[in-house]
Amino acid sequence: MAIRKIAILTSGGDAPGMNAAVRAVVRTALGRGIDIYGVYRGYNGLINGDLQPMHLRSVSDIIHRGGTVLYTARSPEFCTEAGLQKAVKTCQDAGIDGLVVLGGDGTFRGAQDLSRRGIPCVGLPCTIDNDIACCEQTIGYDTALNTCMEMVDKLRDTSQSHDRCSVVEVMGRHCGYLALNVGIAVGATSILVPEVPFDFERDIVERMNQTAATGKKHFIIVVAEGIGGVTKLTKRIEEETGVESRATILGHVQRGGNPTVSDRVLASRMGNYAVDLLCDGRSNRVVAINNDCLTDYDIEEALHMKKVFDTDLYRMAHEISI
Ligand code: F6P
Repeated sequence: MAIRKIAILTSGGDAPGMNAAVRAVVRTALGRGIDIYGVYRGYNGLINGDLQPMHLRSVSDIIHRGGTVLYTARSPEFCTEAGLQKAVKTCQDAGIDGLVVLGGDGTFRGAQDLSRRGIPCVGLPCTIDNDIACCEQTIGYDTALNTCMEMVDKLRDTSQSHDRCSVVEVMGRHCGYLALNVGIAVGATSILVPEVPFDFERDIVERMNQTAATGKKHFIIVVAEGIGGVTKLTKRIEEETGVESRATILGHVQRGGNPTVSDRVLASRMGNYAVDLLCDGRSNRVVAINNDCLTDYDIEEALHMKKVFDTDLYRMAHEISI
């Protein structure tokens, strides 16, 4: 069946590069003579019939902007059968032949539910957490890494001036990838991630004492949000090491900002590929990139895959931050 009309939505936490992906999907579709509708506020937009036709110029001047022009939401109603049925009806009434969804695991679960009910869906991995197992790099991750690095570089200035320890919490939900790579990029003395159990004495106090003995007087400890408790941890570090310490939770600043080159290019490639998949009659797929090659996975398979944490990289990070 020829694809005549597709829709696109962004769902879950926003990620820098979503707009670049929306632009790529819209421009690819229109260039192939396919009508395209933008759905507002994620799956809620499908439930409420909140969708508008998009044109070439609807996506002008957005490739460089963070956030999402389609807005986003997490939709509890969509997790109910009644909500799902409303969404299916909206698609059927509007004559939607295919849907591109941008988001993370939760978004893909929704796409799977719709695919199973006859609405062909393709997902693009957009999350700063980089926690999609089938894909080496998600859209938004590189920008968030750079944002965190910039913020921690600023913290380092003040930490150094005061001979302090800065304990910084970065996002990532249950995943430590953002923390690990930020930690490497800022030369953190210690990086705590949920994937690797840590020992307070060995991994923080002893490491700080060892580096202090070689003349270092300021420290950066990067903590993934999946570990939590940074305020308590910071107090304990100060008590046990005697080094004045401050906690910083970077928070949602990590989700904003202009996407990097890497995220813009990745989003553009993936958006174009998503339309290819729909035109080829493929459904229930997640687009991924591995070894710089675009590929795609069945959503069910993708959701069951486990992301393997790079323990070698984790070990290396600590080996060189002495
Ligand atoms: O998944 C992206 C993310 O920013 C996580 O890193 C974080 O745990 C969560 O979303 C925060 O969600 P919210 O925007 O609902 O506070």
